[in-house]
Formats: sequence, C-alpha cells, structure tokens
Amino acid sequence: MDIEKLMGNPTTVQVSKTISENKKTRTLVFELPETKQSFKPGQFLMCWVPGIDEIPMSISLWNPPEVSVTVLPVGEATSVFSALSPGQRFGVRGPFGSGFSIECKRALIIGGGIGMAPLRPLVYQLLENGIDATALVAAKIKNELLYVDELERLVGDGFDVQLVTDDGSAGFKGVATDAVREIFQKASYDTIYTCGPEPMMAKLHVFAKKMGIVIQASLERFMKCGCGICGTCALDPTGDLVCMEGPVFSGDKLDAIEEFGKYHRDSTGVKIQF
Ligand SMILES: Cc1cc2nc3c(=O)[nH]c(=O)nc-3n(C[C@H](O)[C@H](O)[C@H](O)COP(=O)(O)OP(=O)(O)OC[C@H]3O[C@@H](n4cnc5c(N)ncnc54)[C@H](O)[C@@H]3O)c2cc1C
Ligand code: FES
Repeated sequence: MDIEKLMGNPTTVQVSKTISENKKTRTLVFELPETKQSFKPGQFLMCWVPGIDEIPMSISLWNPPEVSVTVLPVGEATSVFSALSPGQRFGVRGPFGSGFSIECKRALIIGGGIGMAPLRPLVYQLLENGIDATALVAAKIKNELLYVDELERLVGDGFDVQLVTDDGSAGFKGVATDAVREIFQKASYDTIYTCGPEPMMAKLHVFAKKMGIVIQASLERFMKCGCGICGTCALDPTGDLVCMEGPVFSGDKLDAIEEFGKYHRDSTGVKIQF
C-alpha cells in the first residue's frame, strides 16, 4: 500500500464553473492537473474543504482535465463546499473505490435524489459501449430531480429516461420501486444499477433476486480516510470496507451484508437506523 500516494497532501484544484442542478444541489466543475489515473463510473474523490472537513464525493463527470462533483448540502462541510464560487480552491485525493462493472446487455439505472451523481458517468459509459439503457430518475419532488434536461437530450438510439416523484409533480407518481415494477411489465433488463436511499436499494435488491437479474448498488457510509486505512466504513458482519471493496456492491455481496438497508454508523460508530 502506497500510503504517501493514498493519504499524502491532496491535490489543490480551483473551481472553474458551478452549475445549479436544482433548488439545492450544485455541480462544481474543476480541472485535475496532469492526472494519469484511470476512472470507473461509481468511484469517488475525498474532497478537502479548507478549514472544515474532508468528505467523500462521487465523481459526476470525468473528462480529464475536466472533472466534477455534484453536492447536496446536508451539514457543515457540504454546505460550505456547495457554496464555493469559480476561482475558489479545495483539495482532492483519489479516485477511490471499486466502481460499477459493465457487463450487461440491457441496463436499468435507478437514481434516487443525489444518488444520480455517480450514475451520470455510468450513463455515458453504457452509451459509449453501445448498451441499451433506461435511466429512472427519482426524487421526492420535481425540483429535486437531477440532470433531467441533459439526460433527455441523450434519449434515442437505445437510451430512454423516465422520471419518478413521490408527489407526481413530474413523471410517475409514487416511489421508485413501484415505477420499476411497472417498467418490468413492459420491458426486460438483465442488470439494475442503483444509488440512492438505502431502503430503496434494499427493496430493489429483493426485486432483482425475484426476477433473477443482476444488481449493483452504490452504498454510502461515514468515511475518514477513504482509502482502507482507518476501518470507519467497515460493514457488518463481512468487514468489507465501503471505500475499498465498495462503494459499489453486487447482489451476492449485498446478501451477506446484514446492515444493508437497516442501519449505518455515525462518526463515533453509533448505529443509526435508516
Ligand atoms: C462514496 C460516497 C459518495 C458520496 N457522494 C456524494 C455526492 O456525490 N454528493 C453528495 O452531496 N454527497 C455525497 N456523499 C455524502 C457526503 O459525503 C455526505 O453528505 C457528507 O460527508 C456530509 O458531510 P457534512 O459535514 O455536510 O454533514 P454532517 O454534519 O457530517 O452530516 C449531516 C447529516 O448527514 C448524515 N451523513 C453524513 N455522511 C453520511 C454518509 N456518508 N452516509 C449517510 N449519512 C451521512 C449525518 O449522519 C448527518 O445526519 C457521498 C458519500 C459517500 C460515502
Ligand atoms: S474510510 Fe477509512 S477504511 Fe474506509
């Protein structure tokens, strides 16, 4: 393990552009200088917000030197981070984690809320590989949906987008899992890729098992090092580290992770039920 490479000083980057994706969520675009790192959709960066904290963020665009993360403010670090303006600086380490593996013929991509962030580069990768896909973009309300205009511009030639909102303000009215059941009545897929609220992903896991199809789900856990050193992100009872073996886990692994869909841990290790 090259500790210096993993845990050494973050690379300082400068915000080049910000995009308001919806009422709360912002994408920060920046240039990552001289990166020779390879990238798999689903991987993340540890982002150092000066004077506040270092937090994991999925890579929402990888087109080196241009890279982006999409930030939903939920606490101190994400609030300060998402408010950065062009010209302001922050630090990055990574990319870290396993990423999605792309071995499918027809994919259903299901993103709940900010969970669409790691799925955006996956959409582009699937299209580049000539794989048919439907992206199901879900949120509580219309103005929490992510990347809708961008994804709708890609529709055609084997790619489709469907919207789902709890209140019916856009697309299917209800929860993503109900929309998925309806979609499967008209079409078939061999793989589900998902990221979003864990109870949603746990239900999709049960559904995928029933249908006999593959599922890959991206999990979030509290992280300190992001690269396999501190053990903070270990899962019960397998001990898998979300930052190393994950954040993307496939169905057989999800079966073995007893806490999946049930609880996660805060910064002190205390269990928090979903
Ligand atoms: C691999 C990975 C990728 C991520 N990608 C993104 C992304 O693309 N965009 C984005 O906005 N966020 C992403 N997150 C979540 C983000 O890292 C957290 O929201 C952030 O660390 C919270 O820091 P804070 O100081 O703002 O909030 P805190 O004050 O630390 O927390 C605020 C609230 O959020 C909860 N929380 C914090 N971190 C997590 C977590 N990891 N899982 C579940 N609940 C948590 C806390 O329990 C608390 O209730 C990702 C997390 C992981 C592990
Ligand atoms: S965050 Fe330290 S081991 Fe995963």
